[in-house]
Amino acid sequence: MSKTTEKSTNVVWHQATVNRKRREEKNQHKSVVLWFTGLSGSGKSTLAHAVEEELFQLGMNTFVLDGDNVRHGLNKDLGFSNEDRKENIRRISEAAKLMLEAGVITLTAFISPFKEERAMARSLMPHGDFIEIHCFCPLEVCEKRDVKGLYKKARNGEIKDFTGISSPYEAPDKPELKIDTHARSLEESVEQIIILLRARHILPSR
Ligand code: ADX
Repeated sequence: MSKTTEKSTNVVWHQATVNRKRREEKNQHKSVVLWFTGLSGSGKSTLAHAVEEELFQLGMNTFVLDGDNVRHGLNKDLGFSNEDRKENIRRISEAAKLMLEAGVITLTAFISPFKEERAMARSLMPHGDFIEIHCFCPLEVCEKRDVKGLYKKARNGEIKDFTGISSPYEAPDKPELKIDTHARSLEESVEQIIILLRARHILPSR
């Protein structure tokens, strides 16, 4: 068990009167967590923000939790060891769970390289409220793009424990959606996700 989960004793859950159901009714859409996972440079953030833009224009309540951004604040005390990545994902999944209660469509864009942590995140949410989206892009392509110049640094040994180079990425076996981000346009990828959200009645039917 993580060190941070052990110290809260003598605390009693307070039941809110303004609950998720009432928020969803007011919003006229369901809340859900769209969990994007994939290598650095696989297009998670780009896709999450593009989906958010589309949803926002449709009048939905949305929020993106993005790896690089969250690591500037909430998780700035964490690095990239296996332990720290686990704690990163634990905190994010708890935050995403709160957003679910808040009636928001939450899009999380973290590498989240370990199956076990993604399974843990899934287990926190009611069944069907966690949608795992694998942004698949071959390592060679991510490395060739190297948008942030980090793969080069990882190869040079300037960054240690870099996902795909010196730290593992465990691809999901059964994500709700796998998107070949290298082979599809951004618009196509966004469309795929919107179709899924309509099929699951998370968005109101047109
Ligand atoms: S996770 O593995 O803990 O889920 P997270 O998504 O929060 O990672 O952060 C990944 C981002 O941090 C990458 O997109 C990259 O910009 C940056 N980064 C810095 N160092 C590393 C590293 N060693 N491995 C992977 N990403 C890194």
